Amino acid sequence: MCDKKDDLRVGIIGVGSYLPEKVLTNEDLEKMVDTSDEWITTRTGIKERRIADKDTATSDLAKEAAIEAVKNAGLKITDIELIIVATITPDSTLPSTACILQGKLGAKKAVAFDVSAACAGFIYAIATAEAFIKSGLYKNALVIGAEKMSSFTDWKDRNTCVLFGDGAGAAVLAPVKDGGILATHLGSDGSQADLLKVPAGGSRMPASKETVENRLHYIKMSGSELFKQAVKIMANAGNEAASLLHFGCDDIDWVIPHQANIRILNAVAKRMKLDREKIYLNIERYGNMSSASTAVALVEAVKEGKIKKGDVVVLDAFGAGLVWGAIVIRW
Ligand code: UT7
Repeated sequence: MCDKKDDLRVGIIGVGSYLPEKVLTNEDLEKMVDTSDEWITTRTGIKERRIADKDTATSDLAKEAAIEAVKNAGLKITDIELIIVATITPDSTLPSTACILQGKLGAKKAVAFDVSAACAGFIYAIATAEAFIKSGLYKNALVIGAEKMSSFTDWKDRNTCVLFGDGAGAAVLAPVKDGGILATHLGSDGSQADLLKVPAGGSRMPASKETVENRLHYIKMSGSELFKQAVKIMANAGNEAASLLHFGCDDIDWVIPHQANIRILNAVAKRMKLDREKIYLNIERYGNMSSASTAVALVEAVKEGKIKKGDVVVLDAFGAGLVWGAIVIRW
């Protein structure tokens, strides 16, 4: 516990990431479904993605990213007071992946729970952690976007299987003297819930012989409708968060977006009137890792030295729900 301070600013004090070793290339996919490297590259920007092995669960990916982030923050695992895992590919329906992770890490002091906000999950989890720290309830938080998308991917469906990959990115949040989170904009629209979903396996449609035979435990997506929504919503979210600070595009140094499709990101840059070079991209190497995409992109942009102290960084994501979010951070 720490005392509530109204002027408390919360920032990211450490980051870490983990990607499984196995690489699945577009050429590999050509042997699995009726697709081509040319189609995948030009329509999505993806060349390869990482796939976790069958004995690895989401909490295992999260653990590696978490350990690196806590070390990078200069803390011990036992210092962590709150763990939030953003995931739509939990180890199991219950308990939460965050609790499993807490046990694996030995983070005895930490309260742990999951956030389900699809590709915007890392941003929702950061916003939640910031609120908890600002409230005075916890001194720090470990936030992880972790996904084993390959477990929910229909490897016979060319519309979706070329898109997704596995991975995890983590951030440690704590009060900071300089910079930190300046503004947050979140949004949801449940009227469009059908655009991207896993139909079976929940209370609506419990697992049965039929659900398995009809492949209803896999991700189903209305790609072209989502595409249009993604462009509009991600551009709006970024602009909304920046406008809370009266920031224009010249005030932004980096946009770290959810990596769903390079054509979406080019269109977002245009709509935000943002220099395309300010949008960080790693989609080519990892594909769409849902909540882990924004997390891993942030971590890699930091590790590559692209994000420098004092830079204004906008995290911007959109996903199933629909949900979206943008967070402005002074690094
Ligand atoms: O993570 C957050 C939410 N997700 C998104 O925001 C994803 C948004 N959507 C997209 O990124 C794109 O819509 C896709 C990459 C999924 C699809 O690209 P598209 O340009 O919208 O293609 P389309 O779905 O309109 O399909 C065009 C054609 C179709 O053939 P016909 O009907 O024109 O003959 C598809 O069957 O491309 C075909 N197609 C493929 N062809 C080769 C679909 N997938 C493939 C494939 N390889 N893998």
